[in-house]
Amino acid sequence: MTRSLTMDEPDERNRLDAMAQGVIGKPLDRPEGPLKVSGSATYAAEYRYKIPGCVEGVLVTATIARGEVTLLDESSVRDLPGFIAVISDERMIARPAQGGAGESPVRKVREVQYYGQPIALVVAETFEQARHAAKHLKVEYREEPDALVDPADERATFEPFEDPTIQGDLEGSMRQAAHAVDVIYTTEGHNSAAMEPHASIAQWDGETLTLYSSLQMLRFNRKELADALGIEPEKVHLLSPYVGGGFGSKLGISPEGVAAAVAAIRLGRPVRVVMLRQQVFQCVMRRSETRQRLRLAADAEGRLIGFGHEAWVSNLPEEEFAEPVLQASEFLYPGENRVLDLQLARVHRVTAGSVRAPGEAVGMQALEAAMDELAEASGIDPVELRLRNIPERHPSEDIPYSSRKLEECLRSGAERFGWDKGPRRPCQRREGEWWIGSGMATATRVHNLNEAHARVTLRGDGTAEVASDMTDIGTGTYAVLGQIAAEMLGLDPAAVDVKLGDTAFPPGSGSGGSWGASSTGSAVFEACEGIREELARKLGCAEAGLTLKDGHAVSGNRKVPLADLLEGRDVEEIGHFKPGKIAEAFAAAMYGAFFTEVAVNAYSGEVRIRRFTGAFSLGRVLNEKTATSQCMGGMVWGIGSALTEDLVFDPRDGHIVNPDLAEYHLPVNLDVPHLDVLLVEERDPAGSPLQSKGVGELGICGAAGAIANAIYNACGVRPRSFPITPDKLL
Ligand code: MOS
Repeated sequence: MTRSLTMDEPDERNRLDAMAQGVIGKPLDRPEGPLKVSGSATYAAEYRYKIPGCVEGVLVTATIARGEVTLLDESSVRDLPGFIAVISDERMIARPAQGGAGESPVRKVREVQYYGQPIALVVAETFEQARHAAKHLKVEYREEPDALVDPADERATFEPFEDPTIQGDLEGSMRQAAHAVDVIYTTEGHNSAAMEPHASIAQWDGETLTLYSSLQMLRFNRKELADALGIEPEKVHLLSPYVGGGFGSKLGISPEGVAAAVAAIRLGRPVRVVMLRQQVFQCVMRRSETRQRLRLAADAEGRLIGFGHEAWVSNLPEEEFAEPVLQASEFLYPGENRVLDLQLARVHRVTAGSVRAPGEAVGMQALEAAMDELAEASGIDPVELRLRNIPERHPSEDIPYSSRKLEECLRSGAERFGWDKGPRRPCQRREGEWWIGSGMATATRVHNLNEAHARVTLRGDGTAEVASDMTDIGTGTYAVLGQIAAEMLGLDPAAVDVKLGDTAFPPGSGSGGSWGASSTGSAVFEACEGIREELARKLGCAEAGLTLKDGHAVSGNRKVPLADLLEGRDVEEIGHFKPGKIAEAFAAAMYGAFFTEVAVNAYSGEVRIRRFTGAFSLGRVLNEKTATSQCMGGMVWGIGSALTEDLVFDPRDGHIVNPDLAEYHLPVNLDVPHLDVLLVEERDPAGSPLQSKGVGELGICGAAGAIANAIYNACGVRPRSFPITPDKLL
């Protein structure tokens, strides 16, 4: 049976607290953790060793920015050892899909749109042979001269990506303001940089295509692959039980998966394609660079009367995505005079797509740095300035906020950190050759939900199974979904098996946009509601009078072991969750506050993060340990975004100069201090039936702004371009 729950209104029932099992929220370990750390969790590429006869493909990528492939000369590699085939088929794709986010065109591999674009797959018996042949394949192009590859090129033009918000008179408010800031911040491109490179193994049995791959959104990916191949989605079977990080880069089906599928169909043999790390950088996806003008107009008390955020980003021609830089600026701050405007330039660089909190990650870091400039201009403590600017209503739409614990985060974070209210001036503290300073910023990220299905089976022996094609991209899905079922069914979490990442199971929400746990979790919740009703019927009581605890069903003075009540028969329900009208009825978001202390070397400009506290409100916390880990991960991204991460493009042809983890600098252990995460208790009835919201991305949204502000407080230099590398501080 399928039970559907459409969320049109806030869910005030607070069902999970009523269960009172004490399982939900607990910092339980990941059930799959031991498999992962012992190397026995099988990731996509590792199925190679379980599939006899599997051959290897290596992608060949374009070495021009724009044009057409005119020759792929198979004779140049035919005699190389182990060579099997060169495949460059109309059905292959040259860029990743967007994971259900739009109907972007699937680019065919012969028309080159960016340097690094896949143009062919070379298949050989072994990986080394395939890589060798891929390097030697003779390729000829018809090259379009002078392709525009840089949005900073004077030929670049920017066009509005969507209708701007224009309200009141921003310029007038800037003139009237007691305190005003008008500044331009820039951020550079980022790569998702998941640890596990994109990898796929395709098998074709003449009718059904099986693909082991590393993907975030199986329900959409199945259709994307079917569309690319021209077969029915039912003929595509995707398996992605473990994913070594996604961060947006695996939202859509990617070129290596389609290439593997086409090759497997053509050759009648299983084919594995693993992207080289350089290919992950050069042909999967990037976060756009941004240029952001911020205009903040405040009255004498620091209250915003005008708010302007204009941003410029880039993408390939015809792509439907633009880094949503203004997403938080829509709702975070007041100011009745408003301009919000996002403009897009078309350039021939690798596709820009969703990378680690698209929008807020870079929008908030610039906005919160500009807010620090306003705090300085107005002489108001930065925490106090933010407390004075929490709007009553959404500043441009006639909707209320759902639960919002920003004030609590600001206050409890400041207290935990020991925030010094000042007076704050740069260069106040010096220890040897280091300047020491502190800074803070607000965090916010919109709350998203997505449709999801999950099947829950209460087995005749009193154990349970949860199954969905939902993924766990390192976020803790296995743990959290098991906890929801255990709480609702009164079971020990160890008695619940969670099965994910297989399109043979009911379609879940996928993992993206921080919606996974709340969306698929709500489907699990609804399935469990159905099972509870069935058990109440069996026990002859109303569901409201039913308590499930420690593997027993209890009603009044009756207490029956579940196994007896079930008489050996399974009870199965499929829960179907739909977001409904709730998304339009409230401005729902997660909030938080960052506080950090940094040291800046007076001679080298080196920045060390000394302390970093984040206080976050995310709705109900489903698992304290995995939620805390997610927040920490976000703060680590924030450190990278503030100090080191920078995709460097060659201005001649747009190729990425630093396409690997040696040259693209993610924070490593020594860059990251102890991260202090404080979770502020919250229930948000508009968040989901679980009263939870999203977790995964909040920790980055504003984090780099706090670091920039601390750097300024330490040494008196305020670079307005991220990342803040040492050269900018000297
Ligand atoms: Mo995310 S960047 O929506 O996986």
